[in-house]
Amino acid sequence: MNAVIKPAATIKGNINVPGDKSISHRSVMLGSIAKGDTHVTGFLTGEDCLSTIACFKKLGIDIEIDGTNVTVHGKGLNGLSAPTETLDVGNSGTTLRLISGILAAQPFSCRITGDKSIQKRPMGRVATPLSLMGGKITSENSEKLTAPLNIEGQHLKAMEYTLPVASAQVKSAIILAGLYADGITKITEPEATRDHTEIMLNYLGANIKREGNTIIVTPVKELTGKDISVPGDISSAAYFIAAALICKNSEVIINNVGVNPTRTGIITAFNAMGADIELINERIVCGEAVADIKAKTSKLHGTVIKGDIIPKLIDEIPVIASVACYAEGETVIADAQELKVKESDRIKTMATELRRMGADITETDDGMIIRGGNPLHGAVCESYDDHRVAMSISIAALGAEGNTEIKNPECVDISFPNYYSLLDSLREA
Ligand code: S3P
Repeated sequence: MNAVIKPAATIKGNINVPGDKSISHRSVMLGSIAKGDTHVTGFLTGEDCLSTIACFKKLGIDIEIDGTNVTVHGKGLNGLSAPTETLDVGNSGTTLRLISGILAAQPFSCRITGDKSIQKRPMGRVATPLSLMGGKITSENSEKLTAPLNIEGQHLKAMEYTLPVASAQVKSAIILAGLYADGITKITEPEATRDHTEIMLNYLGANIKREGNTIIVTPVKELTGKDISVPGDISSAAYFIAAALICKNSEVIINNVGVNPTRTGIITAFNAMGADIELINERIVCGEAVADIKAKTSKLHGTVIKGDIIPKLIDEIPVIASVACYAEGETVIADAQELKVKESDRIKTMATELRRMGADITETDDGMIIRGGNPLHGAVCESYDDHRVAMSISIAALGAEGNTEIKNPECVDISFPNYYSLLDSLREA
């Protein structure tokens, strides 16, 4: 059934959003290869992170889930065992990329795949650097290096590598492989990307250093399981920040959100558009910056978003596009060609669906140009089974004339179970 999103006059409330997806994935992966128990609170029980749990269970790790509390009974760096069946990552690119770095170094082989969208996502970006370390990753697809993959574990060599694209997933895969390598691995990234892997690894006893844009991984004998508190996901908070900015007389407070500086590009970009956003009660939890975020109705204008801010807001570009429709003047998004290889081609899918609602948008090779101020109207929109497209369209729908319908709306369960009911709970009559 389609989701029906009615326009909203005013949005008000004090909410919590589900746990950070990137940190939740890492808590299970790193907890599994640490020695002893890792107790995780605030875990995101979205489908992607449940796929990570399912994969590590098949690798012999005992994991208990009780609501958003997860206990991982880690077996140490060399404690994984050969799976008896294919590992299935579902829709999760993060699971597939990161786990490849671990599997490349195991004393066993395995097969790994995922859903239709995952089978289109580029894996050469991970297989190439891992093969330089001696890894053996082959694809069952003869034309493109995509899943299903067969990973034959090997003794890995340390290496120095410069990433051709700024990708935290690829960086993390190499860091994880580097934990098992025979020396010091150095990875240079073109622009700083999210550093949750580095932070959590060091929290569990690893030796990961950063010099400029180079990450230096020195292997340690063991990691140690610890308690991990996962903050709310700023990528999920972004929809409610956006809703408050574009609706009249609105104010939303989102408690306990991760504000790691490699993730707060959305706040910088919205501020550049004239947004009224405040970070309150800033603190550090398990090495990660956390704060409460207050956002209010704002008079927005266009801006230019490009260069090294892009990796810091890559997942928020769809919702920025929706908000830009309500800003005065032109918003230009450039250097964001990575959007084409996400769960959908987010340049094309967002431009197509916002245009269907009356927006004035030009797609470019590496982003889009949105001319704000065209009144939007309700429409029947595709989600392309892409959670961030569905949620971003629902935000554009709040300021539109008439109702908007979203097809296959349940794809939001990937990162945000109960999204629509939380959005509805903030509507003021
Ligand atoms: C993620 C990194 C980003 C992001 C994805 C999660 C991560 O992907 O888009 O949703 O957890 O490392 P890339 O690293 O491929 O840009």
